[in-house]
Amino acid sequence: MSTVPTYMVTVAPGLEDVAISELTTKLPGAWIQAQLRGRVLFVANSPWEDLQQLRCVDNIYVHIGWLKVGPHKADLEHLTKDIENMHFPDIPYLLPKTKARAIVNASRSGHHTFNRFDAGWAVLEGLTAAHGFVPGTTEAYDCEFRLDIVDHDALISLKLTSAAFRFRGQRTFSRAALRPPIAHALVWLSEPRSSDVFLDPFCGSGTIPIERATYEAVSITGGDISPTAIEAARENAPAEVTLRCLDACDLWDTPSASVNAIVTNLPWGKQIAAPQEIETLYRQFLLETKRVLAPTGRAIMLTDREEAIDHACNLAQLICRPLLKISLHGSLPTVYLVCHPV
Ligand SMILES: C[S@@+](CC[C@H](N)C(=O)[O-])C[C@H]1O[C@@H](n2cnc3c(N)ncnc32)[C@H](O)[C@@H]1O
Repeated sequence: MSTVPTYMVTVAPGLEDVAISELTTKLPGAWIQAQLRGRVLFVANSPWEDLQQLRCVDNIYVHIGWLKVGPHKADLEHLTKDIENMHFPDIPYLLPKTKARAIVNASRSGHHTFNRFDAGWAVLEGLTAAHGFVPGTTEAYDCEFRLDIVDHDALISLKLTSAAFRFRGQRTFSRAALRPPIAHALVWLSEPRSSDVFLDPFCGSGTIPIERATYEAVSITGGDISPTAIEAARENAPAEVTLRCLDACDLWDTPSASVNAIVTNLPWGKQIAAPQEIETLYRQFLLETKRVLAPTGRAIMLTDREEAIDHACNLAQLICRPLLKISLHGSLPTVYLVCHPV
């Protein structure tokens, strides 16, 4: 009898609730088993094609076991034994060929006298001793297992997706580009509707409009002041995305109140020097946002320049509501919902 699989998805820390919203919408009947930092476990009886529609997540794993582990290096022997005795769930992804080459990627948080590499080896020993795997290398392997140790809990999972899943195959990214799943999470937070006239006025290599193009819209436009960025975006984007060079502070050919969804990753003034000072740029851009945004329109903006966006929204008399913080390359930028006052 086959079991209903439990999956684990990984997301940028801070986006767990967005991933849950996406997966419970796209996978009817799925139920959430646990939510940890950067990880969500859920049970679903969905076909693999449906699971691949999850675009806010970095990777998808099938969850294999939840074991206990002690704090000392000597306790890893028990972990190896528990892996040897572990019953692998009877699900289609888990039919590795005999002598499949396995690697184990481990993460660890809590107080232990072993490190994550010791723990990864302990799991690999159990997999090779009792389950027919042979050790692989990072250059040559058939199965990638993941071990997540959080205090006394050890979660074992098998990775089902490759880098092509989260990077959407081959495409070029500009220097300050977001990972596509993060761009998708911003799009998801804008609650995409088929009636949307959509704009990302700081689109760089086009990541956000490309993600928006997975849902219907009246129009999807990406703009950037840099011709190089627009050239890269044109190579990446599907035909339904219109791309053009523009100054987000002067959207002269965009009629007033004509845009009902803006999703954008603002310049933070770090990787890419904005032509104006960030404060001035935000002031001018938020005044333009006020003009082009329809009365019931919504804008989702990502930045770590909290004071600058707050101040600019105040001056433009726009509501600026922080929704969540994302852990991203050592920064903690905030996602804001910006809209007209009701
Ligand atoms: C943080 S990056 C956006 C990256 C983009 N989300 C991606 O994934 O590729 C900010 C972008 O704003 C652009 N930019 C800076 N000032 C601008 C302005 N006044 N109008 C339009 N774009 C501007 C930069 O060229 C840069 O591509």
